[in-house]
Amino acid sequence: MMKRRNLGPIAIAAAVIALGACYGTQEPAAASTGAAPAVAQAAAPAMPTQVEAVTFGMNSAEEGERLYGRECAFCHVGRNTGTIMLQKRLPPGTPAQLHERTNLPAAYVRLVVRNGLVNMPPLSRAELSDADLDLIAQWLAAGRSR
Ligand code: HEC
Repeated sequence: MMKRRNLGPIAIAAAVIALGACYGTQEPAAASTGAAPAVAQAAAPAMPTQVEAVTFGMNSAEEGERLYGRECAFCHVGRNTGTIMLQKRLPPGTPAQLHERTNLPAAYVRLVVRNGLVNMPPLSRAELSDADLDLIAQWLAAGRSR
């Protein structure tokens, strides 16, 4: 009985490995066909990994970036909830990651954080002080690309 039930995860793992192997073998073949893979790559730039998302801004000299990394990046950097939801609703060409945006006013950032927005929960002053939120909002509003 136990043995049978344990086969599920093994089968899934095997399928994942097989799928990985497929992608692995397709890559060189696709690369040899010319322009098409280059176009596909341009359309989908690599997202930061989960480790890069949770450590985002950690060693930054800018406090706003460090705070953003601590309070917001686990949803807004890499393929996480914020990135995925914004990718669905923002116009094509608008970066889904907030740190890549050049059109975010600080007042809008403060408003969204305090009130929430559709799928984003609001953050109270107990969770994030006004002073810290100001630093984050100003850092995002500066729109520097990183
Ligand atoms: C629990 C996950 C989560 C956290 C934490 C989070 N957000 Fe969000 N945020 C979201 C989601 C999801 C959306 C997209 C809302 C929607 O449209 O459904 C969003 C949207 C936004 C938007 C709107 C962007 C636009 O173009 O309209 C801003 C600004 C924003 N977040 C700022 C922040 C900041 C600053 C922080 C940190 C203080 C933060 N968020 C923390 C999930 C999160």
